[in-house]
Amino acid sequence: MRVQLPLINAVHGRSALTCRFRCGDACFHPAPNTSANPYVGDVIATALSRRSMMRAAAVVTVAAAAGTAGTVVTAPSAQAAPQAPAGRKPQGKAARGLRFTPVAPNTADTVTVPAGYAQNVVVRWGEPILRGAPAFDPEKQTAAAQAGQFGYNNDFLALLPLPGERGRQVLVANHEYTDEVLMFRGYDAAAPTREQVEIAWAAHGLSAVVVEENKKNGALTVVPRHHLNRRVTATTEFRLTGPAAGSDLLKTSADPTGRTVLGTLNNCSGGTTPWGTTLHGEENFNQYFANASRATDKRYGIGTGASERKWERFDKRFDVAQEPNEVHRFGYVVELDPYDPSSAPRKHTALGRFKHEGATVRLTHDGRPVVYSGDDERFDYFYKFVGSKRMKHGSGRAVREHNLSLLDEGTLYVARLTGDSPAIEIDGTGKLPADGEFDGSGEWIPLATATARGAVSHVEGMSADEVFVFTRLAGDKVGATKMDRPEDIEPNPRTGKVYVALTNNTNRGVGANAPADEANPRNANKHGHILELTERWNRADSTAFAWTLFLVAGDPEDPATYFAGFPKDQVSPISCPDNVAFDPHGNLWISTDGNQLGSHDGLFGVATRGERRGELKQFLTVPTGAETCGPLVQDRRVLVAVQHPGEISGATVEKPASTWPDGPGKIVRPAVVAVWRRDGDDIGV
Ligand code: FEO
Ligand code: CA
Ligand code: CA
Ligand code: CA
Repeated sequence: MRVQLPLINAVHGRSALTCRFRCGDACFHPAPNTSANPYVGDVIATALSRRSMMRAAAVVTVAAAAGTAGTVVTAPSAQAAPQAPAGRKPQGKAARGLRFTPVAPNTADTVTVPAGYAQNVVVRWGEPILRGAPAFDPEKQTAAAQAGQFGYNNDFLALLPLPGERGRQVLVANHEYTDEVLMFRGYDAAAPTREQVEIAWAAHGLSAVVVEENKKNGALTVVPRHHLNRRVTATTEFRLTGPAAGSDLLKTSADPTGRTVLGTLNNCSGGTTPWGTTLHGEENFNQYFANASRATDKRYGIGTGASERKWERFDKRFDVAQEPNEVHRFGYVVELDPYDPSSAPRKHTALGRFKHEGATVRLTHDGRPVVYSGDDERFDYFYKFVGSKRMKHGSGRAVREHNLSLLDEGTLYVARLTGDSPAIEIDGTGKLPADGEFDGSGEWIPLATATARGAVSHVEGMSADEVFVFTRLAGDKVGATKMDRPEDIEPNPRTGKVYVALTNNTNRGVGANAPADEANPRNANKHGHILELTERWNRADSTAFAWTLFLVAGDPEDPATYFAGFPKDQVSPISCPDNVAFDPHGNLWISTDGNQLGSHDGLFGVATRGERRGELKQFLTVPTGAETCGPLVQDRRVLVAVQHPGEISGATVEKPASTWPDGPGKIVRPAVVAVWRRDGDDIGV
């Protein structure tokens, strides 16, 4: 039976069930950032003018990031890049890579793809991937079974090459969180059983699973029991590494060394490193911990009562009153070596502790890692880490170990943005200022530097350990810019520009909250926007950037939207951009979470340069209640993670809101979907 009434929460319209299980009802609590930071309009213009930044950007040469490693392309001049004057009417075909008939907004309980494209479900929650794991039976699920099966709520996806095994790749997926009411028949939230809790622990974490292409029909399927298949869960042993490892802030009664922690939680988005590992952001970790006090919370929104899932009843480490430092051991960027299933994954303290949406990496011209990461909370910040050690090439064990230490030494920065239009022209409606763009300059403010000899804080009144563990407080102190929920951040491997998805912030300009500014120009921002940064990123000492809003999302008929100046009668409606990715042509692909336009979430492609810059087209939609995640766009295949299908308030195992992917009578299952062209040609050409 279908649930007829999609109960939505009054704050921003997302399913109340999503709010409850995903982020612990974050939007029902006051935004944790109550610091008195200046907003963009207040900040005195930096000495570096936007124009000089643009000139600088024009002369850099960028090395392509992971995925196209080895290619070297020249960054086009930002001034020369056609900036799409309003009212232009581009002629001819869509940008290469975007030549498909857009999918219309809809509410179908399925994955809808363009005409001429085919799809298959690659792997579902519960599918056995490890040797000895039983077939999925939701009525007889056990923690032991789940630990050998694909986890719940797939989010970030990575595909890594598997040399020597033709047609095969290693798929790595995040399992962000569990929806107990959709997993367990008769689930009682007030009294979960130990078995249910342990199943949830085993359904969190990461999966690595080898997949292979069926040459006859294009489908991608799992290779079960492959020796590289692996599950990482909420109880897998991790190494804490980097400057704060071993600090008093990270010691617990179970781990007096402060260097070993069990599990990873709420892994949202991530990235693939040029040295062949994957990064995974620990996002809303606060919701798993109970009984915090004002003194133990430190601005992360940890609850003062019982947690939603009541894990503290089964393991005291989730009870902050009993084990105050355990919560300091979550909220990091995690690194997995998918080629070594016996290796302990790492939590990198040098990248700071906050609600990491994800982490994406590229290399400077001399081989140092640059990592971007957003803190997904209303009015929080986005960050960059620049490593001091250079990546080594080669395949030996010593090389591998060196590269796995690259994220332990370097400097962590937070972003401050300055608008170039008079504050009076930013009226909170989304109306463009007189210069025709929401744009300006910005700087990366150093927070702390980690070296082999120790770490140095750049924040007055905070030690280096405190900066790395209470990074939000450090951002507050240096006056970082409060953003509208920074989600995925990704550099364009073709142009070097960096794109920051800002999902929404319905509290912007409401009550005592920070008002609209040029970088977050709409009050009560329901639909979100995308920021484009231009910086000399290939230099390790680059701390200045120029920025512009590339996309202000919503219904194109809404005057408050902006599609890089592309004619708005030729684009798809889009709302709540979340994950971003690039195709081999340099088009930006955007997946959405929480569409506020009355239709389902989806995946969109948009041209970032040339005459068609800003032309945005919807490629697919996902089933009822689902969010689109983990987009990967290869030459001939698109992969998406369909996360939390059926997550509509009031839905349960007995009363599902969705019957995807297996039809009526079968339990709804988060799953990974592959899409390809029926004629076998490249995507969108
Ligand atoms: Fe897990 Fe910010 O989305
Ligand atoms: Ca401006
Ligand atoms: Ca999201
Ligand atoms: Ca996300």
